[in-house]
Amino acid sequence: MTRHLILPRPDDWHLHLRDGAMLAAVCSESARDFARAIIMPNLVPPVVTGAEAAAYRERILAARPEGRDFTPLMTLYLTEETDPADVVRAHADGIVTAVKLYPAGATTNSASGVTDFDRVRGVLEAMAGAGIPLCVHGEVTDPEVDIFDREAVFIERVLDPLRRATPGLRVVLEHVTTREGVDYVRAHDTGLAATLTVHHLVINRNHILAGGIRPHYYCLPVAKREAHRLALRAAAVSGDARFFLGTDSAPHPDAAKEAACGCAGCFTAPNALAILAHVFEEEDALDRLEGFACRHGPAFYGLPVNEGTITLERRDTPARWPARIATGDGPVTVFDPGFEVFWQVREAG
Ligand code: NCD
Ligand code: ZN
Repeated sequence: MTRHLILPRPDDWHLHLRDGAMLAAVCSESARDFARAIIMPNLVPPVVTGAEAAAYRERILAARPEGRDFTPLMTLYLTEETDPADVVRAHADGIVTAVKLYPAGATTNSASGVTDFDRVRGVLEAMAGAGIPLCVHGEVTDPEVDIFDREAVFIERVLDPLRRATPGLRVVLEHVTTREGVDYVRAHDTGLAATLTVHHLVINRNHILAGGIRPHYYCLPVAKREAHRLALRAAAVSGDARFFLGTDSAPHPDAAKEAACGCAGCFTAPNALAILAHVFEEEDALDRLEGFACRHGPAFYGLPVNEGTITLERRDTPARWPARIATGDGPVTVFDPGFEVFWQVREAG
């Protein structure tokens, strides 16, 4: 049995680091294991301009633990007022790696997102021309559409027309949660990829709702039924380079999640890689973990694979991590996969 896996340092292609006291508390949790991360721009107010992204990047670098090799790859929050020239300039200057599309109202802090897709046509065309990827939160927000159907409906009503209208636009369908999402990505060869979270490989909707409501499993897109979870796992371990890791680690203070109207997001940064190794071992696919966590993402984004390495170790005793971490905004519960995990990342040094 494999006891050690030495991999190039992985990247996280979808991460929420927040700002202020929360950023200060959670940054090290990602910087420990990941070399780079695509940083989500859904702050309040959102990161909309190149100048705002540059300033946020500085705040992340200031929060980064000393001596850690961790590069934040910044994104801009697409609004109907976004200036195409600012996006292209920020990308050319190396400040911004991608642009994030949130349909207005789809998720946490998405009020400034897009309602009328015709109004962002110019930005999308400029991005296609400059090779700037669009990261997409793929859910419709139409209140008539059942929350469990919102991803599948988005693909049909929004994503496919948008891609057809903007040939050459590179798109990442983020945190894909359905078989429809996986199938759509598989069916389209060029310029399309998907990220998968660790928690969606582990939980289905029963984990959230059966036997009591579990707010720490509530995230968006919400976990779907078991058949979808199995489709996601199959995609993750398939070796298909269009699928790669984006944890969507999204910390919220416990008080905001354990509430009558709790907010969406799972905090997985501390244990994402350990759980991921467990999943790949269960699927008898440990040899494919490197592609999913370390190689497919850089290939899509046109970046080199990281030079440093990380060692994953399989021990005889279960890995331990704190149930919650302390932050200046109150405790934040760490994702509990609900089973013992024997893999862990070996501490550096
Ligand atoms: C994210 C957050 O908290 O910012 N929440 C989540 O459930 N994933 C927003 C998002 O990525 O949808
Ligand atoms: Zn997210």
